[in-house]
Amino acid sequence: MKKFPEDFIWGTATSSYQIEGAANIDGKGPSIWDSFCTIPGKIAQGETGNLACDHYHKFKEDIQLMKDMGVKAYRFSIAWARVMPTGKGEVNEKGIQFYSDLIDELLKAGIEPWVTLYHWDLPLALQLEEDGWLNKDMANYFAEYANLCFDRFGDRVKNWITLNEPWVVSILGYGQGVFAPGRNSNSEPYLAAHHLIIAHAKAVAVYREKYTHQNGQIGISNNCDWREPLTNSEQDKQAAQRALEFFLAWFADPVYKGDYPNMMKEKLKERLPEFSESEKKIIKGSSDFFGLNHYTTMYAAHSDGQQEEISVHGNGGISEDQDVNLSLDKSWDVTLMDWAVVPWGCKKLLKWIDERYDQPNIYITENGCAYPDQVVDGKVDDQKRVDFYQGYLKACQEAIEEGVKLKGYFAWSFMDNFEWASGYEKRFGLHYVDFETLERIPKKSALWFKEAIKNNSAETNNINKQ
Ligand code: GAL
Repeated sequence: MKKFPEDFIWGTATSSYQIEGAANIDGKGPSIWDSFCTIPGKIAQGETGNLACDHYHKFKEDIQLMKDMGVKAYRFSIAWARVMPTGKGEVNEKGIQFYSDLIDELLKAGIEPWVTLYHWDLPLALQLEEDGWLNKDMANYFAEYANLCFDRFGDRVKNWITLNEPWVVSILGYGQGVFAPGRNSNSEPYLAAHHLIIAHAKAVAVYREKYTHQNGQIGISNNCDWREPLTNSEQDKQAAQRALEFFLAWFADPVYKGDYPNMMKEKLKERLPEFSESEKKIIKGSSDFFGLNHYTTMYAAHSDGQQEEISVHGNGGISEDQDVNLSLDKSWDVTLMDWAVVPWGCKKLLKWIDERYDQPNIYITENGCAYPDQVVDGKVDDQKRVDFYQGYLKACQEAIEEGVKLKGYFAWSFMDNFEWASGYEKRFGLHYVDFETLERIPKKSALWFKEAIKNNSAETNNINKQ
């Protein structure tokens, strides 16, 4: 059996708004997602995260389930408005207590906390009073909030992620309006992204200036699909490269090289803001590791200004800026999100990152799939998810053998949860959640994952009995 390196980190991931519930108690302030969910038509079935998995009250039970699986690490996010109800100034001690207890419980179970500071649930006051990420001052508010978290939790938390998927915040939140705060624009995404990158860098600067004695690491998690050239033509190859740069290099080039890709500057002109020299200084080198969230692959072809409609959940970004048409191969299996299952795309993306950014340590901070799971006789036989994880983890093992410094892998998600605009129908969990009773049931995939962790290998045989 081929093994992962000894120190490979096996983890699972969640985020605050998707699992916690307790939206309105113990002093928590409202977030843009609390508010967005009240707009008719924005969320499937009009669902909300008000209760979600009620993890706020059930975290001990959840940590026991993680312990049963043998995971080494758990990635969760802090709800900014739970610890700072209006996003700045006053601190809510009950919110601090919740995360402090969660961290202690994880450590007691031998599980390393990996903490994301921002997984999209911006305090509503910052949106209403400050225009959210369109305002550059957000970077300072974010750095203050980050400072609070380092101060209160950094004695025990050694792995920090500043932002989760700034691409999604920018494109789905400010471009397509399908995620909070629901804005539609072809210029605001580039401005919001600019401020997000500066916010990330300022938080990292605080950590490195004041908290080196905590001996932790800090980085950012970006999302990217793989783009495979549709044909061997030079034009399609360039189209695929452009699509990857618009997706990932938009955020990763500033962090690793100090500025946006030239191609984006040329195409976007004044819609792409410029970093000042002092900003470039704090942005370049502002990640101790490369956090990657990866879900799927599409073909990319040169479009000559003729865009085809893509129905796959806006994954293309603003495609008219890129001159790229995306498509799927009919032979590819797709998940309930219509995302194609293409493990080799994951390997190619890892190698692209390895090369472009000079061999960084990479952590896959999310990878997973939604399927229409059902409970039969108290069990959930999600063989397709087992196959998905096995396929992607094998691709990871191959990438490592070919020299990629992949150091860990977090499955999305530990349990079924509130899947943003899709509500509760799209189940991504290793654990099934009955949203009536809130009972958790380990799916077959959780049992497979447990064996894979034990063997430290993706070549773990399927678990046929539960
Ligand atoms: C990511 C996101 C997660 C989760 C996942 C599945 O983009 O960070 O919160 O929803 O996608 O769609």
